[in-house]
Amino acid sequence: MDLAERYSLIRQRFDRRAIQYQRNPLTHWVGHSEMAALRRMIPPPPRRGELPALDFGCGTGRVTILLLELGYRVTGYDLSPGMLDQARAAIGERLDVIFTSDPQSLGGSWPLIVALGVLDYYPDCSLLFQEWRRLLCPGGTLIVTIPNARSPLARLYAFFSRFTCQAYVNTLAELTSAAQSAGFTLTGTQVAFPRRWWGHTIVTVFQLQTP
Ligand SMILES: C[S@@+](CC[C@H](N)C(=O)[O-])C[C@H]1O[C@@H](n2cnc3c(N)ncnc32)[C@H](O)[C@@H]1O
Repeated sequence: MDLAERYSLIRQRFDRRAIQYQRNPLTHWVGHSEMAALRRMIPPPPRRGELPALDFGCGTGRVTILLLELGYRVTGYDLSPGMLDQARAAIGERLDVIFTSDPQSLGGSWPLIVALGVLDYYPDCSLLFQEWRRLLCPGGTLIVTIPNARSPLARLYAFFSRFTCQAYVNTLAELTSAAQSAGFTLTGTQVAFPRRWWGHTIVTVFQLQTP
């Protein structure tokens, strides 16, 4: 399956389950722990409303809400119009947020990109790093998560995801190697749900090296 086919499959699968997405108990419990990790790891902007942030694969908007609370101006981008509709309904009209499913509208030079639960759906975690490299400014911060290959719960999640949208587990070493090949340096990592080496999600912070 090439990347365009994968995007199309992900869009279809998430459009279909957009209304149910937030009601899934696993999404809710794991998400609570992931959001707490993000809150600890996202650098606050120097002044409210000054810096833009891209919530890449924003889904129904929970990271968008966190970024807004922290004081960023946020663009929520997602392949799935159905998920974006849920995000718009949850957040409403605000001057400091826009939502889009058009990759052409994203431009470049973002100081911060957060992608929670996005790499899950890519068998090769290097696939999206080239895109993030193009979107970030030099020295920009990228925060991404992966389901932890060392977690029994994440393996169970990957197994059952075949009935919704096939997910894949990865190790921190595999993720870091893919990121390094695209010019990123790992600057922070935490494990969520629970905060143990065998927890479900690895949350990582990468810095794009300056040329
Ligand atoms: C598990 S959901 C997570 C949503 C949100 N980040 C959250 O944590 O609630 C994954 C989302 O990523 C989106 N997605 C996956 N690959 C994407 C891509 N290449 N570009 C934009 N969105 C993508 C999917 O459409 C889906 O809405």
